[in-house]
Amino acid sequence: MPGAGGQTAPRSISPAVARAWVDRWDAQQQDYLPDREDRFTALIDAVEAGADRPDPLVLDLGCGPGSLAVRLLRRIPGATVVAVDADPLTLGLGRAAWAQVPGLRFADADLRAPGWSAGLRLDRKPDAAVSTTALHWLTGPALAALYAELATVLRPGGLLLNGDHMVDDDSQPTLARLGRALIEREERRRFPDGHPETWTDWWQSAAADPVLAPLVAAREARRVDSEHHGSPASRLQVHVAALRSAGFAEVGTLWQRGENRLLCAVRPAA
Ligand SMILES: C[S@@+](CC[C@H](N)C(=O)[O-])C[C@H]1O[C@@H](n2cnc3c(N)ncnc32)[C@H](O)[C@@H]1O
Repeated sequence: MPGAGGQTAPRSISPAVARAWVDRWDAQQQDYLPDREDRFTALIDAVEAGADRPDPLVLDLGCGPGSLAVRLLRRIPGATVVAVDADPLTLGLGRAAWAQVPGLRFADADLRAPGWSAGLRLDRKPDAAVSTTALHWLTGPALAALYAELATVLRPGGLLLNGDHMVDDDSQPTLARLGRALIEREERRRFPDGHPETWTDWWQSAAADPVLAPLVAAREARRVDSEHHGSPASRLQVHVAALRSAGFAEVGTLWQRGENRLLCAVRPAA
């Protein structure tokens, strides 16, 4: 059963090897998301401008190997980031790659499990919960439950900042179609021969590296199911409705490129 413990980096994986895998992770993610770095920058700008303190406590939900967390800490060195994921392989790589980064702690928790936040052992209410390319893995009900729990966890006035592809084909179908078309065209221009390393390639290569074998075995033993394809959580209205019913006050897009957007929600002040 996932818990928030197990903070140690796997000894068998050196920081250099782990960072090389994280670099490959970033490259394959960036190939699918040409604006990934711009979206990270916008999200971190929002934390910086919205937290109202130089030492914000931030949760990174579905953190993978910690790409957003380390960028945030480079920009806001006084911050503390609790980086949450349920995948033993990406968590293990993150822990091995970034063990020396002050202010960063990885936590093993399944965001679908009610009460997941209790295991994080937070000593105060977070100023922000951030996430990139992760929450579309959840079903609609799991997303609603996650937002409802977050509304009790964040401090009054705290922010939820979710960077992901979220289509708005309910209220603006033509704009949604054009947004998708622009991204597809840009992808074809950038990668006329396809992606150098795809998502599947990355996972297959990681599974074939003997150094990562213990993490791969742990991953196989506890597979985090994905709702990737056709997930309701890839629709903007599903997020907006769930955030509103969880009691978030303002909900809206802060940054956008087609359907790739940064959605922000504000917990009401006390
Ligand atoms: C595409 S990756 C994105 C990782 C990272 N945020 C980034 O931008 O590089 C999606 C991540 O969400 C995590 N995830 C999916 N469902 C989850 C769940 N129920 N609980 C915790 N993490 C989850 C996956 O394990 C994976 O690491």
